[in-house]
Amino acid sequence: MKIGIIGSGHVGLVTGACFAHLGHEVICVDQDSRKIALLKKGKPPIYEPGLREMIQTHLRERRLSFTSEIATAVRRSEILFVCVGTPPKDNGEADLTAVENVSREIARTMTSYRLVVDKSTVPVETGEWVRRTIEANRRRRVDFDVASNPEFLREGSAIRDFLYPDRVVIGVASKRAEKTLKDLYRPLTAPILVTDIKSAELIKHASNSFLAAKISFINMIARMCEAVGADVERVAEGIGLDKRIGRSFLNAGIGFGGFCFPKDLGAFIRIGERLGVDVTLLRSVLEINDTQKKAFVEKIRKQMWNLKGKTIGILGLAFKPDTDDMRFAPSLDVVRALLAEGVSLRLYDPQAMGEARRILKKGTFVRSPYEAARGADALAVLTEWQEFIEIDFKRIRKLMHRPILFDGRNMYDPERLKKLGFQYYAIGR
Ligand code: UDX
Repeated sequence: MKIGIIGSGHVGLVTGACFAHLGHEVICVDQDSRKIALLKKGKPPIYEPGLREMIQTHLRERRLSFTSEIATAVRRSEILFVCVGTPPKDNGEADLTAVENVSREIARTMTSYRLVVDKSTVPVETGEWVRRTIEANRRRRVDFDVASNPEFLREGSAIRDFLYPDRVVIGVASKRAEKTLKDLYRPLTAPILVTDIKSAELIKHASNSFLAAKISFINMIARMCEAVGADVERVAEGIGLDKRIGRSFLNAGIGFGGFCFPKDLGAFIRIGERLGVDVTLLRSVLEINDTQKKAFVEKIRKQMWNLKGKTIGILGLAFKPDTDDMRFAPSLDVVRALLAEGVSLRLYDPQAMGEARRILKKGTFVRSPYEAARGADALAVLTEWQEFIEIDFKRIRKLMHRPILFDGRNMYDPERLKKLGFQYYAIGR
């Protein structure tokens, strides 16, 4: 099939590359012509494992191409995936300007049937607005369908998530759209759930909110564990073995970040308010996430007494491992709070140093966990990179001024660290 992808960000590029991988002819659009120039040379502007190789292969095989003209993609493709950004406005609502502009341009350019599929994370009822916008702006009475096909891609494993999903959700209003999308996804062998458009839109926000709620839930339990001397890891195992609950997304830590969970929760809360639905539950999820970072800083203060003039080594800055993404990273709140207290920081991350330096501007950025530990009064782990599992703690201990370790991601065995001579503080254990 001929597919146009409008918006070549993380979601758009992964979607485009994967559809090319499945044998379709794909053209990806972005208004940023510099980005398009790089992509034409096979250089994606983001880090996602496997993406660069996939783009290069399909560029060579001519299944994948790039343009900065929406019109070119609309003319060439029967199916158009809208993957543009929906950034948060000051009040938390999603800004849908890009979705509206793209809908208008599609309408003005199309001369025969088009299926317009929304993949961007949008508030429920956006599909309806897209339909009205196209109807109001199409030149003649050209036939079209609108559909919703939310993505569930995680950064760092987006290609695997696309090719081996738990489910594919398609929200449609016509048999024609249903058949086209079913044919498109059939090779993936995942269950395909067909719904109406509004339900599909809700599934996306509801999924992300539910996962975020699991994290805040276990973080609340972690605080109870700390208060009574129980172990949240054992509790997570105990409740996670119940198949109705499941163990995943029950990892206690310094909270969730990234460009999806905080933003989508904020937007979902606004939707609930607009609809007159009580969203106290969602507000609590955000609030627990916020206080979780503050509690971690408090824990450091409690063990170290005065923070001013002390040196702390920071391990991990990205919002999660296997990405260089710093957007809404929990590390930023922790690091900023420590800097404000007059702590000298020695910061290290395997991938996100460039971005972190640009955002934070302060602190000493070093090249290894060992450099971060050199002369430090304490170490704090903020992202659970594999590299940190393999650290030689005997070496670290010798480098540190005082062997105190604050583990914000429960990465280590407390007994082992204590035997190695560390004062070890984790989350909820
Ligand atoms: C998420 C969703 O998982 C994905 O389906 C959606 O399409 C986009 O948003 P992503 O933001 O890439 O993906 O990362 P994810 O792996 O879900 O982690 C989000 C945050 O939660 C990270 O900061 C992570 O450290 C934190 N987290 C995750 C926890 O604190 N505990 C957990 O148990 C799991």
